[in-house]
Amino acid sequence: MKLNFLSTSVVVLLAGFAFSCGGGEKTAETSTETATAEAAPVEVSLEDKYKDDPIYIKGLEKVKGSDCTGCHQVDRKLIGPAYADVAAKYENTEANVAMLAKKVIAGGVGVWGEIPMAAHPNLTEEDATDMVRYVLLLRK
Ligand code: HEC
Repeated sequence: MKLNFLSTSVVVLLAGFAFSCGGGEKTAETSTETATAEAAPVEVSLEDKYKDDPIYIKGLEKVKGSDCTGCHQVDRKLIGPAYADVAAKYENTEANVAMLAKKVIAGGVGVWGEIPMAAHPNLTEEDATDMVRYVLLLRK
């Protein structure tokens, strides 16, 4: 009897102790702080920056309809260079757009490394041009 009462009070005591420490609450607080700290310095992504531009909308639709996304991302090198890096390298001029559109259709290698870009013989010049205009728009 006496033992039973003792162990019960120990359990109650322990439970009360854990509760008053607020262990659970503290973790929740910490993770909220972390989330806020991470969210604060985030810049506007290139996608957000240009999402309302008709050149962006049209080009993105065509890029998505082709195989480009398998090798290219906006902000990160995949098999091919990031679109943002391509946009940083070439000025957005008619001559550059035409040159790069031809390269997308014909394929090519050697500008960014040893991996070749596959040819896209089924793309029309208009489609390739719209895609390249979209790529060159993606400047930071
Ligand atoms: C099989 C992978 C692959 C696919 C699919 C692909 N690319 Fe590429 N792309 C590359 C690689 C690799 C390079 C770098 C070529 C080089 O170094 O000359 C590149 C380069 C480019 C460049 C820059 C060319 C230069 O001379 O600087 C553009 C623009 C481009 N790709 C657009 C596209 C578009 C638009 C599509 C979809 C129609 C596409 N790519 C599909 C792999 C790919």
